[in-house]
Amino acid sequence: MRTQVAIIGAGPAGLFLSMLLQRHGIESVILELHSRGYIEERVRAGLLEYNTVQLMHELGIGERLRRQGLEHGGIELRFGGRGHRIDFRDLAAGKCVTIYAQHEVIKDLVAARLAAGRPILFETTDVALHSLDSKNPHVTFHHNDVAERLDCDFIAGCDGFHGVSRPAVPEGVLTVYERDYPFGWLGILADAPPSSPELIYAHHDRGFALLSMRSPEVSRLYLQCASDEDLSLWSDDRIWSELHQRFATYDGWKLSEGPITQKGVTGMRSFVAEPMQFGRLFLAGDAAHIVPPTGAKGLNLAVADARVLAEAFGAFYARGDSDLLAQYSATCLRRVWKVQRFSWWMTQLLHRFPDESPFDHRRQLADLDYVTSSRAASQTLAENYVGLPVQGHDISHAGARL
Ligand code: FAD
Ligand code: PHB
Repeated sequence: MRTQVAIIGAGPAGLFLSMLLQRHGIESVILELHSRGYIEERVRAGLLEYNTVQLMHELGIGERLRRQGLEHGGIELRFGGRGHRIDFRDLAAGKCVTIYAQHEVIKDLVAARLAAGRPILFETTDVALHSLDSKNPHVTFHHNDVAERLDCDFIAGCDGFHGVSRPAVPEGVLTVYERDYPFGWLGILADAPPSSPELIYAHHDRGFALLSMRSPEVSRLYLQCASDEDLSLWSDDRIWSELHQRFATYDGWKLSEGPITQKGVTGMRSFVAEPMQFGRLFLAGDAAHIVPPTGAKGLNLAVADARVLAEAFGAFYARGDSDLLAQYSATCLRRVWKVQRFSWWMTQLLHRFPDESPFDHRRQLADLDYVTSSRAASQTLAENYVGLPVQGHDISHAGARL
C-alpha cells in the first residue's frame, strides 16, 4: 500500500486531520488499533470549544451537532456555598462552548470518512514506524492477521498517550515536561436531568466536584478522589451523598439523582514532549501532550494540532513549501503551553491538595474571589475557556504567514 500521509490512530487528532487533508486533496490512510464499535462508544470528553464547533460545520459534519449539541454561554464557579457565573458571551466576544460527547464527534467523523470512500483500517495490530529520518518512511502492521506495509511521504502520530509513535522517536531527541497530580476524578453518567443549565465547577473542603451533562436527560458528574481510587468502595449511595455535600448551597439548590449507568476513575497529569516532530513523523494530540481535564481542553487541543498540521501539509503539496512543516512544532507548542498553563491553573484553583498549608487554602479562596469579582480576571478565564485562536486557522482565512 502507498499513501501520502499515514495516520496512526482514529481519535479526534487523526480523524480531524484526515478530513482536513481530504479538503486539500491530500490522500491518507488511517490505522486504528480498536474496532469501530469500540471507538464510537468510548466515554471521554464532552465539551467543544467555539473553534472546534465552527470547524465541524465548515467540514460539513455538524448536522447532528446542530441538533443535539447544547450551547453554553457561561459556567458557574461555586465556593463557600454560593454560585458565581462567568458569562462567556459578555466576556469573550459573544462566543460560547458546546456540550457534545467526544464519541459522538468520532461517529460523525468516521461516517463522513467512510462515506467519502477513504480508508480506516480498524483493528490493526503490531503497528511499527520505520525510516522516520528518510524521505521514504513506512509503517508495518497486521490487519486481518495479514502482515502489511504502508509506504508514505509522512507519518502523523495521532495514537494518544499510550501509542507507539512517540516511543518510535530515538532516545535523546525528545524533552519531556510533566507534572502528576496527587488526585484523580471519579466520573459517572446518570439518567437524571442536569440540575443546572450550565456546568458547575465546585470548590469544597471535601474536594472538587463538577456538574456536566450529555443531554437534557443525562448528567455527567465528577468528584475529586485519590488517583488510585478503588471504585468498588463507591456504592451509588456513597457517590450521591458526596455529590450532595460538595454542591450544597445556602439557597436551597437541589441536585437531582437518577440511576448511575457508568462509573470510572481518570488520573490527572500535565505532560508535554518537545519537539512534536522527528524527521517525517509529526505528533499531534495526546501523543505529544496531556492536560488535566479541569479546563476541558484535551480534545480541543488535539483538533488545534490537526489544523496546524493540515495547513502545513497543504502548503507542502500545493507549492512544495516546507516552511510550515518545519515550524509545525514551534507553532503548536506556543498554544499548547498556554493551554497547559490554563489547565494547570484551573486544576490548582479548584482542588484540595493533600499537602496544602492553611496559607495555600486562603490564597486559593482569594483567587476564586478575585476571578469572580474582577472583570479582567473573569475575562481571562472566559477567553481561555472558549478557546484561544488557532494559528493554522487564522492563516487559511486571513492569508497571513506564520
Ligand atoms: P485519542 O483520543 O487517545 O486517540 C488515539 C487513537 O489511537 C485511539 O483511537 C487509539 O485506539 C489509537 N491507538 C493507540 N495506540 C495505537 C496503535 N499502536 N496503533 C494504532 N492505533 C492506536 N478530555 C477532556 O477535555 N475532558 C474529559 O472529561 C476527558 N476525559 C477523558 C477520559 C479518559 C479515560 C481519557 C483517556 C481521556 C479523557 N480526556 C478528556 C482527554 C481527551 O479525551 C483526549 O485529550 C483526546 O481524546 C485526545 O485525542 P487524540 O486523538 O489525541 O487521542
Ligand atoms: C465533561 O462533560 O465530560 C467535562 C466537562 C468539562 C470539563 C471536563 C469534562 O472540564
